[in-house]
Amino acid sequence: MTTLETLKGLPRLDLRGFVSPVQHLERFSEAIGVEVWCKRDDIGSVGLAGNKVRKLEVELAHAVASGATHLVAEGSRLSNATRAVAAASAVLGLKCTLLLSHDEPHEPVGNLMLDGLLGADLRFVGNVSWLELARQAETVVRELEQSGERVYRLPIGCASERSCLGFALAYNELREQMREHGRTVGTIVHASSSGGTHAGLVLGNALHGFESEIRGVVVAEDVYPDVVGTYLSHARGGARLINADLELTRDHINITEAYLGDGYGLPATGVYEAIDLLATTEGVLVDPVYSGKAVAAIIDLASKNELKGPVVFWHTGGYHALFDPRYAKRIWSAIDRLSDVAL
Ligand SMILES: Cc1ncc(COP(=O)(O)O)c(C=O)c1O
Repeated sequence: MTTLETLKGLPRLDLRGFVSPVQHLERFSEAIGVEVWCKRDDIGSVGLAGNKVRKLEVELAHAVASGATHLVAEGSRLSNATRAVAAASAVLGLKCTLLLSHDEPHEPVGNLMLDGLLGADLRFVGNVSWLELARQAETVVRELEQSGERVYRLPIGCASERSCLGFALAYNELREQMREHGRTVGTIVHASSSGGTHAGLVLGNALHGFESEIRGVVVAEDVYPDVVGTYLSHARGGARLINADLELTRDHINITEAYLGDGYGLPATGVYEAIDLLATTEGVLVDPVYSGKAVAAIIDLASKNELKGPVVFWHTGGYHALFDPRYAKRIWSAIDRLSDVAL
């Protein structure tokens, strides 16, 4: 069996229910002068939309096979990952506990409201670092195990060597879709934080002889002490799981912090303009925390002639943040034609 066949034969749940389409962003492409396509991983049920679905399809197939009764996940109170875990738990009939950083908010909005509606047990741990959050998650896992639960813990962003295989498969899926359109994949640009998306796409690309460029736009600072090293170890671990004999090095991890701006969830140059341009030219919505920063990167890199085409914007989801007043107010006041509207 070839490595690709091993990858395709992995045990996998179908949580999305359909293959996400790829669409040519004609008017957006014309506006920025580069051929851009969009892989619509943002589409799906409200709970199970976005990039985490791909990771969970592989990771939770393993969890279910191992007899898990309870999923534990961690993230910020606005995390798309924890919301997707809560939704998957409900779909699979598993219990779910979420550890959420930042102080308990007064308003249940966006993903936090969904976490609650989807039946997860919510634990607010205050404004702690990602590392402290992981430590506290370990403590909760031990507590639940002592009470008889069979716990499966999902790391930050659900990124692991196993879950990244969902994105190695996704690379293959995109490649075939683009081929049906008579196009190749020149460059993929995507928002990046925990690294599962990047590691998986790099692995998928490696299985095809590194034919594309994979560019991760970092949207969160200090997720790991060694970000490149951790991404690389996910990709290498994924390769091991499918017996792929590949030479993966730090040079294969291509990420930039140039579009992080003031930090995770905070403003960055060009993001509101990117949200506005994509919404008005294509009707495609991106959020200011994740995918908006990737689109801002595409616009900037296109203006500098630094993108090998055709470009695929991998839409990793996250529109839920648009319904959080904290972000909605900032977007409204940053877009001229809206800020002039008296509410
Ligand atoms: C909408 C969205 N886009 C991109 C990312 C980054 O993906 P990854 O954690 O795989 O780096 C995340 C998760 O953190 C996300 O929720």
